Amino acid sequence: MEWKNELTRMLGVTYPLIQAPMLGITSPSMVAAVSNSGGLGSLPVGGLHPDKVLSLIREVKGLTRQPFAVNLFVYEPAEHYDRKTFDDMQEFLQFLYGANRLAAAPVNYEDVPFHSWRDQLPVILAAGIKYVSFTFGMPDAAGFELLKQHQVLLMGTATSVEEAGALTAAGTDVVIAQGIEAGGHRGSFLPGALPQTGTFALVPQIADRVRVPVIAAGGIMDGRGVAAAKILGASGVQMGSLFLRAHESLATPAHKAALADITDTDTLLTRAISGRWARGVRNTLITEIEASGLPVSEYPYQDALTQPIRKVAKELDNTSFVNMWAGQAAGKARAWSTADIFAELVRETALILNK
Ligand SMILES: Cc1cc2nc3c(=O)[nH]c(=O)nc-3n(C[C@H](O)[C@H](O)[C@H](O)COP(=O)(O)O)c2cc1C
Repeated sequence: MEWKNELTRMLGVTYPLIQAPMLGITSPSMVAAVSNSGGLGSLPVGGLHPDKVLSLIREVKGLTRQPFAVNLFVYEPAEHYDRKTFDDMQEFLQFLYGANRLAAAPVNYEDVPFHSWRDQLPVILAAGIKYVSFTFGMPDAAGFELLKQHQVLLMGTATSVEEAGALTAAGTDVVIAQGIEAGGHRGSFLPGALPQTGTFALVPQIADRVRVPVIAAGGIMDGRGVAAAKILGASGVQMGSLFLRAHESLATPAHKAALADITDTDTLLTRAISGRWARGVRNTLITEIEASGLPVSEYPYQDALTQPIRKVAKELDNTSFVNMWAGQAAGKARAWSTADIFAELVRETALILNK
């Protein structure tokens, strides 16, 4: 079948198939495996220290000479959030950990770590990265100008037609249309109620609204999904959940095993873990925070509060206190190598579209 289109030309790839950036799950070897297979791997660096960003980029470059994208959280944290909300949640969490015979150091409000995309840009540009995807917002005019000066192609996340319009009006080259099925954080960034449009409804409406290529994201797990997205007007697809159980995924063995059993109704949208709406599998951490009835701080404060216990739980291969972000169709993820998952996706899609 003919895979070439405007998007493959813009990205310099064989297939318009993009492995979604998944902070905490995507390893450099996953990114490289997808790029080496002819798709576009995406390296997530949202909120990471610039030194870490550089070392991850170097690692991917050591594994592939093919194009890959770097993914940013384009987010401006407010200077201060309600201190009482933070302290009350911290007190509750410490009690919760103790009751579950776990321990994690309390977090200092003044030291909440969040490295802005602005601080990350110098190393990304110096490393010669030419593809940047982003979520949670969009760069300001100066940011766009700087990225354009360096000939960086920009892929922005939209969860509504209005957000897609705002992204393209500002100069975004490609829109990622993220449906409500998607695993992980909602990319939503305009004020107002959280957009909850499904991929099937969102993709054709965004494709009709914008003149740039649209990438469909959310609930796509096989060749049927890729073919459907194409028919709906997408030039490409971005898939995260498909790679959650891959050999190259950083999920722990128990985390991968838990994902093997989930059904279409086992994920939920929650602010409990990070302060931003995200879709994942319910566990003790989410249930207890929600049941506490306590207000949740905005991102990145709530995220910082739950980070230490998530790290401890990951080391213990405990799935009750980690974040298991996953999409509504994540139960179909395969425990194969990334290259095999990708090859099967290409094969299935060609089979359907060649019919
Ligand atoms: C575990 C996980 C982590 C994610 N982390 C990020 C991230 O760091 N940056 C981002 O832009 N999107 C992130 N996403 C969202 C993906 O980009 C994409 O929208 C989503 O995976 C598509 O839906 P699917 O999971 O049904 O394929 C994440 C998704 C998952 C499942």
